[in-house]
Amino acid sequence: MKQVNLIFILMYLANLTFAQQTQLRLKTEKEIILETETFSVVLSVEENNDVNLLYLGKKLVNTDEYKLLGKQYKQAHDYTNMYQSVYTASGTRNLLEPAISVQHVDGNLSLDLKYVDHKIQQLSSNQKQVTVYLKDEVYPFFVELNYLANYTENVIEQWAVLKHQEKKNVTLTKYASANLSLKGKDFYLKSYHGDWIAEMQPEEERLTHGIKTLDSKLGSRTNLFRSSYFALAIDNPIAENEGLVLMGGLDWSGNFKVDFEKDPQDNLRIVAGINNYASHYSLAPNKELVTPRFSYTLSTNGTGEGSRNLHNWARSNKLIDGYGERFTLLNNWESTYFDFDENKIFNLLENTKELGVDLFLLDDGWFGNKYPRNADTSALGDWVENKTKLPNGIISIVKEAKKTGVEFGIWVEPEMVSPKSELYEKKPKWVVKQQNRAEFYFRNQLVLDLSNPEVQDYMYGILDDLFTKNPGLAYIKWDCNAVIYNAHSNYLEDQNNFYVDYTLGLYKVLERFRAKYPKIPMMLCSGGGGRIDYGAMQYFTEYWPSDNTDALDRIYIQYENSMFFPAIASANHVTTFGKQDIKFRIDVAMMGKVGFDLNLEELTADELHFAQEAIKSYDKYKHLVWHGDLYRLANPRETNHASLAYVSKDKSAAVMFNYLTSYSQVSKTTSPIKFGGLDAAKKYSVTEINLYKSGSYIPSDLVLTGDFLMKIGLNPVLSKGKRSAVLILKEVK
Ligand code: DGJ
Repeated sequence: MKQVNLIFILMYLANLTFAQQTQLRLKTEKEIILETETFSVVLSVEENNDVNLLYLGKKLVNTDEYKLLGKQYKQAHDYTNMYQSVYTASGTRNLLEPAISVQHVDGNLSLDLKYVDHKIQQLSSNQKQVTVYLKDEVYPFFVELNYLANYTENVIEQWAVLKHQEKKNVTLTKYASANLSLKGKDFYLKSYHGDWIAEMQPEEERLTHGIKTLDSKLGSRTNLFRSSYFALAIDNPIAENEGLVLMGGLDWSGNFKVDFEKDPQDNLRIVAGINNYASHYSLAPNKELVTPRFSYTLSTNGTGEGSRNLHNWARSNKLIDGYGERFTLLNNWESTYFDFDENKIFNLLENTKELGVDLFLLDDGWFGNKYPRNADTSALGDWVENKTKLPNGIISIVKEAKKTGVEFGIWVEPEMVSPKSELYEKKPKWVVKQQNRAEFYFRNQLVLDLSNPEVQDYMYGILDDLFTKNPGLAYIKWDCNAVIYNAHSNYLEDQNNFYVDYTLGLYKVLERFRAKYPKIPMMLCSGGGGRIDYGAMQYFTEYWPSDNTDALDRIYIQYENSMFFPAIASANHVTTFGKQDIKFRIDVAMMGKVGFDLNLEELTADELHFAQEAIKSYDKYKHLVWHGDLYRLANPRETNHASLAYVSKDKSAAVMFNYLTSYSQVSKTTSPIKFGGLDAAKKYSVTEINLYKSGSYIPSDLVLTGDFLMKIGLNPVLSKGKRSAVLILKEVK
C-alpha cells in the first residue's frame, strides 16, 4: 500500500515538475492589445512562439498593466501551454477541443502553429484590425487570424484565413473562426432552440465541466432548430442591466458549431465556426479558405447594453441601409394564400393605399404554367408568371401600383425546386439529391446545388430578370423553406466540400445581386425565422421572425430576437392569427417594421379606422424604433407583462411599448415600470397613442423628469380591459 502511495507521489511530482518547468520556461515575449471603448482582447506571444489569449475582459486604464495579469492567476497546471491558445491546433500537444485539425498530403495529422508576425491596421477612426500570422513548424501550412475591433460599438469580429503550399490538397477536418478563452467564477449560457412557428425559445444553464455544443446540420434553413447566437454571463446569472456578458454568434447561414468547454483549469473555452460535420474540407495548394466571422460584444452592464452594442454595430456595418428608411406594407399571404388573380391584386393595391402603408407585397403562387403554383406541391424553379392568374404579367401590376400611388414587391424562393416543375425535368443534375436513393422532401421540395457556378448564374438570372423586365419593382421577399436532405452535389468532386460551398455559392449570388442593386429592400425569410444570421443579413434590409403571427407569441419571439438584431430589421405583420383585438396586434407589430397581412374587407369600420390612424402615428414615431436605443424594461418570462422602450440617441424622445401577457382575468400591472436610457435632468411630457375603445389612464398634462422615470417609473395601467399601451415621451424645455 505504502509503495503504491509512493509511486503516486513520485508520479505527481514528476508531472508537477514538468508542468512547472514548462510554465517557468515560457515567458511572454510580447503582448498584442486590441481595445474597444469598454473591453479589450490581449494576445501574448510566448517565448516558444505559441500565441495565447492572455485576456478578454473589461478594458484597463493603464495598458502597461496587461502584462502583469498572468501573474495574478495561480491556476492548475496547463501541461501543454495551450489551454488558452488563440487557435488550438490538434495532433501535437493539444489535449482539449481544437480550433483546427488537418490531414496533410502525406497522411500526417499533426499541426503546431507558431507565431510568425502580426500587423495592426487602423482601417478608419472607428475600426482597427489585428492580423496574426501563424505557421506550422514542419509543414507549409499557414493561418492568418483576424480580429476587427469596432471601437464605439464594442463589437469584435474574428475570422481565420487558411492556406498551404503542399503538393496536393490538404484536408481540413476542423476550421473554426474563433477560439476564445474566458476566466470567471462561473459561466451561464443563454441559448436558443426552436422549430417552425416556435422560433427563439431561450434556455439558460450554468455550464459545468465538459463541452456544451450549439450546432446545426440542416445545410439550409439552418436556424430551424437552433440559433448560433447566444449570451454568456461571466460570474453571475444573466441579467438585463448588470454583469459581464458576452453576446454574439457565427455570421454564417450554413451548418455551424459553437463549443463551450469548461477546461481543467475551470476557464471557459469557446470554439466557434463552420460545423465540420460531413465537411472535411479539401483545400487546394495556394487557395484560401476564409472562415465566416464570429462577432461578439462584451457588455459590462448586462444583456441590455450588449444588445445596444450589437444593434449599433449591425445598423452601421451589417444591414443594408441600417440607418435608412423602410417600406410599411400589405402582404397577401395569410389573406389569399395561392388563390388570387390580377383583379384581386389590383384590389389589394387599392387596399394598400386605403390603409396608408407604402407597398403591396405579392407572396407565393404567382408563377408556373405547365405545373401552376396553386399549392405548395409544384412549380418552384419555373419563375414565369402564371398566365391564368397574371395574364398581363408582373409588369401590369407594377404599372397599376404606380397609378394607385403605392410601391410593389414580390416573393421568390430561388434556391428551391419542386419535383413537379419544368426546371426539375430539364436540369435534374442541378438538384441536391442522392442519385441512387429515394428522394425525401421538406415541404414537397428539393434544394438546388448552389456549389455549382451554373446554378449560381441561373439564380442570379432569376432576380436580375425580375428587375430588368419589370422596372419599378421595389421590393423582394426571399424565402427558403427547405432543409437539405440527401446532401450530394453532382458538380463537386469532393462531397465533403458540399455544405460549405453551398453557403459560399449563396453568398456569391447575393454579392452579385447587391453589386447591381445595392439599395433594393429585401426581406430574409426562411419559412419563418429559419435563417437569421449576420452572414445573410448583410445582404438584406429586414428579416421575417416567424410564421407565428399570433401577437401574443410574437411578443416573446420579438423580445428574444431583440437580444441580437435591431428593431428596424424585424418585419412584424398584423394578421388575424390569434384572438387579440386590432389594437393589441398593431401595438405588437409596431416594435419593429410594420406590415399587414389580412383582408381589409374583414375589418369593421372601427378597426379599419384605428389601423389607418395607427399607421399615421407610426409614421411619426417609427424613427425612434428604427434608429433609437432599445431598453428592455420588463421581461414577459419573468412577470405578467412585457415592456420595451426605444430612446432617441440625443435622449430627447422615446416610445414605450407595454403588453399584458398573462390572460388571467385578474392580471394587471400593479407597479410602475422603470425606464432606462433617459436623461435624468430632462423633463418629458408623456402621452398615449393608439387609443382604441378604452381611453388613457395617463393624465393629459403629465410631465415627469428623467430622474423620476428611471428611479420610480410609470404604470401604463394594463388590465383585462386594456392589454396594451404605447406611450410617447418628449422632452419639454
Ligand atoms: C413561408 C413564409 O414564411 C411565409 O411567410 C410565406 O411566404 C410562405 N412561405 C409562402 O410559401
